[in-house]
Amino acid sequence: MTEKWDAIRARFPALRPRDDGRTPAYLDSACMSLVPQEVLDAMEEYYTDYPGCAGRSLHRFAEEVSHRFEAARDTFAKYLEASSPKGIVFVRNSTEAINVVGQGLRWKKGDRVLVSDQEHNSNLVLWQRLGPERGVRLDILRLRDDGTFDGDALETALARGVRLVSLFHTSNLDGRSLPVREITERAHDHGALVLFDGCQAAPHRQVHLDRDGVDFYAISAHKMLGPTGTGVLAGRPEALQQLRPLVAGGETVEWSTLTEHVLRPVPHRFEAGLQNYAGVLGAAVGVQFLQSAGLEEIEAHDRAINAHVTRELEGEPRLRRLGPADPAARPSVFAFALRGIDPHDAALFLDEGHGVMVRSGRHCVHSWYAERELDGNVRASFYLYTNMADADRLIAGVRELLERMPDAPTGTSAAKPAPVGPRAPSRRRAAGSSTAAARSAPPRGTKGRGRAGSAARSG
Ligand SMILES: Cc1ncc(COP(=O)(O)O)c(C=O)c1O
Repeated sequence: MTEKWDAIRARFPALRPRDDGRTPAYLDSACMSLVPQEVLDAMEEYYTDYPGCAGRSLHRFAEEVSHRFEAARDTFAKYLEASSPKGIVFVRNSTEAINVVGQGLRWKKGDRVLVSDQEHNSNLVLWQRLGPERGVRLDILRLRDDGTFDGDALETALARGVRLVSLFHTSNLDGRSLPVREITERAHDHGALVLFDGCQAAPHRQVHLDRDGVDFYAISAHKMLGPTGTGVLAGRPEALQQLRPLVAGGETVEWSTLTEHVLRPVPHRFEAGLQNYAGVLGAAVGVQFLQSAGLEEIEAHDRAINAHVTRELEGEPRLRRLGPADPAARPSVFAFALRGIDPHDAALFLDEGHGVMVRSGRHCVHSWYAERELDGNVRASFYLYTNMADADRLIAGVRELLERMPDAPTGTSAAKPAPVGPRAPSRRRAAGSSTAAARSAPPRGTKGRGRAGSAARSG
């Protein structure tokens, strides 16, 4: 089995050994996945062999790319088990997909949207904006911190008369998943539509859009081996039909006069202007790569790595893990805080000392941290190219950091969460923070490297 994963890993050029002799331990796939050679080849092939635009010209380049673009739609429909390729709209990312739905529904004043208290800003800010702009009311479903789902709480919320339930499928914060089928059934029983933010689920497990009756599903292909700025809004064609296209213009209409136009059928009416053909064709190859690796196997692989990390690190008294205790309930994510250590400092230490790349901060779920008065945490995320050596480097790095950084006595500022501000600390600030002592001497076995002036993180 290890051979299979080694062969897969070898397809990712970004994981080659670097000048310092080390291979990167990339544990930030929940932010953005790496890209296999096959995806790079597909994009290059587009530009070198048939660099035309789909659906307009009749020459051979255009014919070829038109054919491949529609085949990519088919690939995504099959991958997501959607009822038809007509329900696949290519967008830039899941943020845009959610906006196509939110801005496209014909809202009536007083309509309610239900989101959880653990949503990415991509599934929150838009709804906040629709309040003053269109009179949409935002209801919050509180989730349990242990990761179990409270169907009664959902029923209570739905009983208020919700127009759209918009929830994550898998959380980017702690890796837990919500029961899509149960939520969809309950929502439909109350006459509500459902939108799932699937961008952390679709890369790792089989999604059954048609079987589960999901109305809308948002994904980012750059979290599932595709190139940056590629994503999909998947939907039941009849549900998509209800949306007013977010962007109007070329390719969205059958015809126009100087005073009016007739829209093309779904999904074309949503794809305005010349599309990211190279990106979409690359993204489809990324999906095929996942299919040939096997989604069940990928999930089991994530789970095994996470179980190892969890087993090794949970005994650390200063480490507090987020989300469900069982790694099987959050296979791709190990999120943690280290008492007395700024999460950004921890991330810098792991990168500089151990070549381990993790995410730190509030993971664009600022609202969740604000409610708990917490100042962020560290997140390691795993994928099909992660191996046990990466996991061991994370474990060693965390242990070394804990060893170097004495625990702050309870009641001191280092032990308490810092006040929640509008932005997470920048690298510049991190360099002057409590953990700077750990970094003033380079981590074992390295010379360290300066990061002054690096960009601030939005958290
Ligand atoms: C759960 C979740 N939703 C939405 C997004 C936004 O994705 P994108 O920036 O690709 O639109 C992310 C990104 O990390 C995410 O994890």
